[in-house]
Amino acid sequence: MCGIIARVGYTDAVNELMVGLKNLEYRGYDSAGIAVTDGTQIDVCKTHGEIGALRSALKARSLTGAVGIGHTRWSTHGPPTDANAHPHTDDTGRVCVVHNGIINNHEALRTELQAGGHTFTSETDTEVVPNLIAAGLREGRSPEDAFRDAIERLEGSYAIAALIEGSNTVYATRNGSPLVLGLGEETSFLASDVPAFLEFTDRVIYLQDDDVAIVRPEGFELTALDGTPVDRDIRTVEWDANDTSKAGYSHFMRKEIDEQPTSFRQTIEGRTADGTVELESLPPGEFADTREVVFVACGTSLHAAMYGARLFHRRGIRATAIRASEFAHDPVPLDDRSLVIAVTQSGETADTLGSLRVANETDARTLAVTNVVGSTAAREADDAIFIRAGPEIGVAATKTFSSQVGVLALLAERIAVDTDADPGNPAVLETLAQLPEHIQAVVDSPATAQLAERYRHADAYFFVGRGVGYPVACEGALKFKEITYDHAEGFAAGELKHGPLALVTPNTVVIALFTGRNDHLTLHNVEEARSRGASVIGIGPESSTDVQAAVDEYLSVPSVHPELAGILINIHLQLLAYHAANLRNRAIDKPRNLAKSVTVE
Ligand code: F6R
Repeated sequence: MCGIIARVGYTDAVNELMVGLKNLEYRGYDSAGIAVTDGTQIDVCKTHGEIGALRSALKARSLTGAVGIGHTRWSTHGPPTDANAHPHTDDTGRVCVVHNGIINNHEALRTELQAGGHTFTSETDTEVVPNLIAAGLREGRSPEDAFRDAIERLEGSYAIAALIEGSNTVYATRNGSPLVLGLGEETSFLASDVPAFLEFTDRVIYLQDDDVAIVRPEGFELTALDGTPVDRDIRTVEWDANDTSKAGYSHFMRKEIDEQPTSFRQTIEGRTADGTVELESLPPGEFADTREVVFVACGTSLHAAMYGARLFHRRGIRATAIRASEFAHDPVPLDDRSLVIAVTQSGETADTLGSLRVANETDARTLAVTNVVGSTAAREADDAIFIRAGPEIGVAATKTFSSQVGVLALLAERIAVDTDADPGNPAVLETLAQLPEHIQAVVDSPATAQLAERYRHADAYFFVGRGVGYPVACEGALKFKEITYDHAEGFAAGELKHGPLALVTPNTVVIALFTGRNDHLTLHNVEEARSRGASVIGIGPESSTDVQAAVDEYLSVPSVHPELAGILINIHLQLLAYHAANLRNRAIDKPRNLAKSVTVE
């Protein structure tokens, strides 16, 4: 959802800015641009299209400067044109800004600035920011004061980095959008996310809302918006720069699917000792007062939450998974025995953070289940559990879904024991520990690619499942539609006959999921679709011979505890979507209109 980068040092900044933008491209790829300064004037180069287009545009220019800012855009205000690409300058070119987020009061500010004689060249909300700073400079304020005063006027969410003519300083701040300061030997960075600069430094400070960073080649200052100094910890990021490269793969998505045996092992490592669940800072008994669990999440994370809710039900715990975009504005009643769990890979999704903030205002306890240490969700929730999946760059979430479900399975066991709802199920913990090798078997299976080819010309793909198979069906359909652009829907298997069956024709493919629990019921639903001419691909345990006999095709997974079979089945669905998208030559890592980490509501 837009990526910003700034680089401050003594040598030329262009190369490192371009590396940073390439590493942030998953956050948006509608347009890109950079601006650099040598301490006197500011030079800008920007264009619509992906980073490659910017690289070509730069060949025709000689941009040099040791300090710079850059942006890769996911359009919110105005189409992806050259004029709307960031960086944006004020109408004199003295102030230059990159921004991620949305300025809600931009129209009022634009009207006011236009009345004061400022002219605008783009349709973006961002352009008011450099003009506000420039207005302050014109009134005689220092660059720092002009920056702070301009930020005070903004309403909305933003991470902003600015250059001001005549100095080699980057001024930056955030409110509701992520911003991380990276500290190298002689070079500093600011970026929306750590992978932007991870190959240059792993020492970081996660900025908090209203922090202002003033970064110069010789050092940096951190203050609150009112100028009071603030102290933030410097942390060392555990991720390796190789984790954020394609490592020979043609797509991040495929690499991340293949990484799952390892990433899942990392998720559960040290957490299932001696038949009990160890959750770092959350000792046994910690959840004894919990009476109900409410999950809030979006997209793939919502599907993991729906899966989690079903696991909680199996342990006798009341649980509901609610779309964060709904909960944030229509919350359910909560009390001091409610536990609200925000499930979010990035920890920065605006809808999920909105829900978390609503819950934080009640007596409920809040917990973030996230992949990103230092993320806003991790900081704002009462507690955080990290899924430890490693960086995920492909826009389509894959390995993080498996790891989220893994953590939620652990939590279900722990909360069941803490609340005496259930003695816990050692078979589930045993299966979790064995899952990495079973995941490997699914990842290695060539059968999915063959089916993607065989059924590539269908009109629609319907994914059906029940129990934990239902959220997996929704997830399979989401993955399929987002990267193939074909029509795909996920249904609870029993719901087919209540409406969707009207859409089933001989050119429909039904992908039916069998976890080993209530499969006979799903088979009835499959028969309803087959008798209307649909082809049925079943996915389920290798031991289910009756199911295999009742479908057109069958993809098997190792027979494991039914509550966890969905994790294995989902990996076939990730591969099905991947191969289908590859056959259609889709931009798998950067599907149209989408971006990872959606930081606007
Ligand atoms: C789909 C996908 C999105 C995200 C959603 C929430 O493949 O990645 O649906 O799952 O935007 O993102 P996080 O988990 O970062 O809150």
